[in-house]
Amino acid sequence: MQPVRGCATVEHIEVVVLGSSPPSSRIHELAPEELEIYRQLEPERLPQHVAIIMDGNGRWAGQRRLQRFFGHQQGAESVQYVVETASRINLPWLTLYAFSLENNLRRPKTEVSFLMRLLKSYLVGNVRRMNDNNVRIAYIGRTGELPSEVQDTMRWAVEQTAQNTGTTLTLALNYGARCEIVDAAQAAIRKILAASDVRNLRMEDLLPLLTEESLAKELYTAHMPDPDLVIRTSGEMRISNFLLWQIAYSEIFVTERFWPDFRGQHLLEAIADYQRRERRYGGLGKDKLAPPSVCDEAFVQS
Ligand code: FPP
Repeated sequence: MQPVRGCATVEHIEVVVLGSSPPSSRIHELAPEELEIYRQLEPERLPQHVAIIMDGNGRWAGQRRLQRFFGHQQGAESVQYVVETASRINLPWLTLYAFSLENNLRRPKTEVSFLMRLLKSYLVGNVRRMNDNNVRIAYIGRTGELPSEVQDTMRWAVEQTAQNTGTTLTLALNYGARCEIVDAAQAAIRKILAASDVRNLRMEDLLPLLTEESLAKELYTAHMPDPDLVIRTSGEMRISNFLLWQIAYSEIFVTERFWPDFRGQHLLEAIADYQRRERRYGGLGKDKLAPPSVCDEAFVQS
């Protein structure tokens, strides 16, 4: 495994979940082609959390003999279309993989700085529409390592949208799932050791305190449900270090479509496909619910 620089520091922006009253329906705001798909869905079985690996910006541009930057620019347009459709169907959580730790380390500096500028201009240009759509912005990842002026704009966008109660749009930025798990394990162990100072516990007393639940509480996503559905565009069948812990039981939908061509109707098509699946969580039938912490149960039984 390649070591990833910066694994030893923990920096991410905490999000506080606000209480919300049931929003009024905005289904009538869907475009006709979206409405047609939405009518085939069971509204009571919509996913609570959709996570998307937005891929194919570079290939989209290459097919048009354009520079990669144009693909990213068009990809930012897709983000806003998809966010607005998500908000119209009242999807509570939408998480987008916008910039990975690996992107930061392995792409040319010119591309990284373009993506940073694009993120800033996306936020500045769309906060008003976020507010019109009752969308709240949040981030996961090592955001403290991003350029300070980008962090300032990110904080500003959080403040500007904090009062919204509809869809929470979480952008994964400078994010890597293995690092997230390392960060979470370190945070959980730190808490356990702090408790041991106070109570003078022995190893055999300490180890059972590190559980699936205590570790999950330290993930960047501790405040949100695990994704029900993961979508990946551009046909690649891989997860690319995205939410590895959280997608243990997620349904995965891969489309050949490149991200810059992805629109709200394609989100709804993915949800329609998700609704045709039977989720069993390792059990035998529909009556099985997601096991909250199988590992803890096994530990107790052993
Ligand atoms: C993958 O395409 C996409 C990214 C590395 C970044 C995602 C960025 C955007 C969608 C645009 C900006 C986002 C926001 C939130 C403003 P790729 O470059 O890996 O495509 P390729 O695999 O075809 O080369």
